[in-house]
Amino acid sequence: MSEAYPRAISGERAGLWRRPDGLRSRGAEGRIGRGPGYTPVVEARERGTKGWFVTLEGPDGSGKSVQSERLRAAAAAAGHDVVLVREPGGTAGGERVRAILLDAGPVGIRLTQRTDALLFNAARAQLVDEVIRPALRRGALVISDRYADSTLAYQGCGGQLPLDELRSVVGFATGGLRPDRTILIDVPVEVGLARKTAAETTRFEAHFDRAFHERVRAGFLSFAAAEPERWVVVDGTAPADDVFAALWGVLAGIPGLGPRLAGRLAAAPAGDPGRGAERTPG
Ligand code: TMP
Repeated sequence: MSEAYPRAISGERAGLWRRPDGLRSRGAEGRIGRGPGYTPVVEARERGTKGWFVTLEGPDGSGKSVQSERLRAAAAAAGHDVVLVREPGGTAGGERVRAILLDAGPVGIRLTQRTDALLFNAARAQLVDEVIRPALRRGALVISDRYADSTLAYQGCGGQLPLDELRSVVGFATGGLRPDRTILIDVPVEVGLARKTAAETTRFEAHFDRAFHERVRAGFLSFAAAEPERWVVVDGTAPADDVFAALWGVLAGIPGLGPRLAGRLAAAPAGDPGRGAERTPG
């Protein structure tokens, strides 16, 4: 969506999150560009919808899975039609693809970077068609725990596949569907990886080295810098309740959505599902 982002939001003033304007505007490869295959023409036609699409991104262990569930619970408590999905997965077919992609297994599956890119996007195409677009059409708030930017960060920056080619793949998979807002929950690589237990470790943490994960994080930060009207960067090392407050502030600042949610944080039930989850990875 092309609405201007409101500048005066209390969370930003309080330093809980920042617009990424001050970050460097090019990635390591100098080809970060303006977004992952979001074709404005397709987007304008398709987004004659009433809903809102918000994605959460971040390095492994950033806490976004727990935080996205907290957002879903709080938005639902505020009476909003809200759909939470995760990538890869979120559909019956997509969850099977997820198992292939992420299963570390006893010996681990070896897939090439290009196979990874295609499988992530196969699951994404199914999710967009089966869940996300229908929900947006009926006016829901859709929160996605990862989306297309993860392919650019992991397979592009981490795996060093050409970003331009990946943008084409992503554009095909999503039909150009672009989030209204993308929140990067940023944590240093060592902090994120240390949060994961052995049982939670996926093939990505098991098979890719520290340098891979550093490139992923740098990639996310570069994307945020290149497209500040869509991205907001939140400090994922802050206490979980502060991170949640920052994320809620971002939702409340989205034109059209914010007024519906305004003032609901204080009214959110004290025992909402995410509260107290201080150190959960995502
Ligand atoms: P998560 O569910 O814990 O976030 O794990 C998903 C993993 O898959 C994480 O390591 C990031 C990786 N990933 C990609 O490499 N490319 C993608 O397009 C997506 C959605 C995820």
